[in-house]
Amino acid sequence: NAKCDLTGQWQNDLGSNMTVYVDKNGLIVGKYQTAVSTTNETILESPLVGYQQSSGLPTFGFTVMWQFTNVITVFTGQCFRNETGQVLQTTWLLREESSDAKHNWMQTRVGFNVFYQIP
Ligand code: BTN
Repeated sequence: NAKCDLTGQWQNDLGSNMTVYVDKNGLIVGKYQTAVSTTNETILESPLVGYQQSSGLPTFGFTVMWQFTNVITVFTGQCFRNETGQVLQTTWLLREESSDAKHNWMQTRVGFNVFYQIP
């Protein structure tokens, strides 16, 4: 049974791109170029760090530190294989800063992305 690994280049269903490297301890480092934004700021490439488990179809989690806005996104998911290659099924949480704790309840968005490996 072929293994799955996050090392490589990926594009998701929104058109966002990321490049990821996983070391022998499962530490993920990479960079993320989002295709969409909650802001009107110019989008900048942003760093990500996380961990990948070492099983055949590993689970993983990583955090993207956006360089153009005061937002953090965490992704968690699992690597799978289909006929064409590797696929990442992910769930994300996006946290926006609030200047008032009264608005805390509405500062977190949740969503899903599917990433396909770019050969
Ligand atoms: C922002 O504009 O608030 C920062 C960028 C957020 C991009 C989000 S993260 C979840 C979703 N998946 C993507 O590839 N882009 C959006």
